[in-house]
Amino acid sequence: MKRCTRGAKSPTVANLGSLVGGVSGAVAGAMAWGVGIEPYRVAYRHARVGPQGPSTNAGSPTREGPTIVQLSDLHLHRIGPVHEEIVGHISELRPDLIVFTGDTLHHRSALPVLERFLALLDAEVPKLAVMGNWEYAAGIGKHDMERLFEQATGMVLVNRSVRVGTPAGLVRVTGLDDLLKGKPDLAAALHDVEEEPAPHILLAHCPAQQDRLRASLRGIEADRRAEGRPLPTPPFLTLSGHTHGGQVNVFGLTWTPKGSGRYVRGWYLERGLPGLFVSRGIGTVIPIRLGSTPEVAIFELEGRDSSTRPPKTRRASQ
Ligand SMILES: [Fe+2]
Repeated sequence: MKRCTRGAKSPTVANLGSLVGGVSGAVAGAMAWGVGIEPYRVAYRHARVGPQGPSTNAGSPTREGPTIVQLSDLHLHRIGPVHEEIVGHISELRPDLIVFTGDTLHHRSALPVLERFLALLDAEVPKLAVMGNWEYAAGIGKHDMERLFEQATGMVLVNRSVRVGTPAGLVRVTGLDDLLKGKPDLAAALHDVEEEPAPHILLAHCPAQQDRLRASLRGIEADRRAEGRPLPTPPFLTLSGHTHGGQVNVFGLTWTPKGSGRYVRGWYLERGLPGLFVSRGIGTVIPIRLGSTPEVAIFELEGRDSSTRPPKTRRASQ
């Protein structure tokens, strides 16, 4: 008589089956988290920032200088609960300035969405924006963005520097054009800027711009000496985005797009350069985030009208 063996599996095949099942379950779980949960868990990151970089007593109720909110990589295509939550948080915080560090949009059809989003923010708070690579890629020009920002007490800074008066003091903000799709030019941006006591902040969508700053600042210094003009007060803080914090970080691996350079997220402090903060941003083009929750950064500048210089110490933190 022949023995029926249908359905019987060897222990090895059974173990392999459960391993594959376990891995598939873990991948499915990670995907569900990365698509359905993590993109909607916004972190509000506070830092008090002075000439020596960020300090740990951020979030203190006593404000000295202007408070600045950074919104990066919104990639707005609709106004959802995340955006409403962010607007609510900002309106409670009552900042002195809101900066948008690029990739606010990645499709022309979303221009009316940005118009509605800007209208939700306090009309009295100045809003300054720089262009990102995605705006250019989508065929959105500086003038498209300017039209929307200017009707919401805002400006788009493309190689341009402005001094903003806030209730907590003056701030100089310089915006560079995008590194990948534009023509960043710090010398042009600072052409008319002189030495002044206001803290100076640089907005640059791609953090790789930080590695060009040393040469740009040296060039400006040489030109000013040749012209017999005083040097502009250098920026003490650079705010960037673009990387999405790696966006999908698994097995210790992080991928960042061209234009990120050696930067991924958080703080980078080096001697002779402005402190750099790279935001993880808020939105995405491909709707998944793993190990990089959306982030709204809030900076409280130390002191009122205190001139600041790049940090003397070399530190880096995430
Ligand atoms: Fe970008």
